[in-house]
Amino acid sequence: MREDVRDAVNRVDDNRLWRRHMEMAQIGAIPGNGVNRAALSDEDIAARKLLISWARARDFAVSVDGIGNLFVRRAGQDAAAPPVMTGSHMDSQPRGGRFDGIYGVLAGLEALEAIDAAGVETQRPIELVAWTNEEGGRFPPCTMGSAVYTGARKLEDFLEVKDNDGVVLKGALAKTLAATPDAGKRAFGAPAAAYIEAHIEQGPRLELEKKTIGVVTGIQGLRWFNIEVLGETAHAGTTPLNLRKDALREAVAIINALHELTRDESDTLRFTVGRMLVTPNSPNSVASQVLFSVDLRHPDLATIDRLGKTVEPTAEKAARHCQVKVTPTLHDDPCVFDSRVVDTIEKWTRELKLPCIRLPSGASHDAMYMARVCPAGMIFVPCEKGISHNEAENARPEDLAAGARVLTAALLDLANC
Ligand code: GLV
Ligand code: MN
Ligand code: MN
Repeated sequence: MREDVRDAVNRVDDNRLWRRHMEMAQIGAIPGNGVNRAALSDEDIAARKLLISWARARDFAVSVDGIGNLFVRRAGQDAAAPPVMTGSHMDSQPRGGRFDGIYGVLAGLEALEAIDAAGVETQRPIELVAWTNEEGGRFPPCTMGSAVYTGARKLEDFLEVKDNDGVVLKGALAKTLAATPDAGKRAFGAPAAAYIEAHIEQGPRLELEKKTIGVVTGIQGLRWFNIEVLGETAHAGTTPLNLRKDALREAVAIINALHELTRDESDTLRFTVGRMLVTPNSPNSVASQVLFSVDLRHPDLATIDRLGKTVEPTAEKAARHCQVKVTPTLHDDPCVFDSRVVDTIEKWTRELKLPCIRLPSGASHDAMYMARVCPAGMIFVPCEKGISHNEAENARPEDLAAGARVLTAALLDLANC
């Protein structure tokens, strides 16, 4: 192995990486060992401040863009060269775990620290990014920060999005940006030489197959929709059923029809309704309005495209007395990662003598958007029983460190070519 790479890899500190996970997990800690760190919340702000304090302790430059994506940069010899980037997200699901997202941020910081401690000079800068609102659990849709950064979506498209309490994204974003006034300001979309994201697998394969590293080949496609069902509120005790425009009853009929539409013997297709807002949400009033989400995923472009187009007509057909409004909120085709980045990750995994497999990602990640603007790839590490988006999410310190070592080596490689 190259001497500079070996030196940097040897400086990845398992204990520091684990301690930082545990410290971050205290921000937004919930019962059952979980984390609730919603995007642009007070907890998100606290996590940003902690990350910045660690970055500043090493004199890395910190900057933030207009949607709050946070960048930590270790300078290269050629300041004008597009950086090699790494990162993930610090926001979590409402009942999320201690590793989803934050691992990729802390592994990236660990790589920067290890490279710095080894005194290795790189031609390109190396940049860590903590993307804003990857989860979309508070402000749908997901992967918002990277979508805006890469120009796939416009910031203005998202400013009026509301959370379940009616808080508007614009205000939460302004508060978040104001909380880190010392961070440099940065524009969207500066060129990058490459991007690698480290993440827990969020599925069971690595653990079952006793592999330490997943070399990720791509991400399945997804479509998100908001479906609004508009009926009329009425007295639950007096209004005859045949005179009602019951939005909740019809929402259930639509969901059942969508389940039928997406039935798949091979269990490849993913269909989820995970969010529902009912108005007026009272036991003895007929629901006048229901808003629910649809999350649809499949690795094959033709399949996801065909099904995505069928959602609206299926919903309209299933509703009998209510009006239905279907709004697409996310349209991501399957992505295939760049073979040079995938090969580089695999090469260093093998150099480090870590057992690995190649595998696709079922979950979505910011790497999907970065793959549109630069060569991109991902490193997975195992998580216990594949559990994720759940407080019980767990991972082993030695696996997290192994992933950080592969990341360190791959970043160094790409930062010098
Ligand atoms: C990201 O958390 C996803 O929904 O895949
Ligand atoms: Mn994630
Ligand atoms: Mn997630």
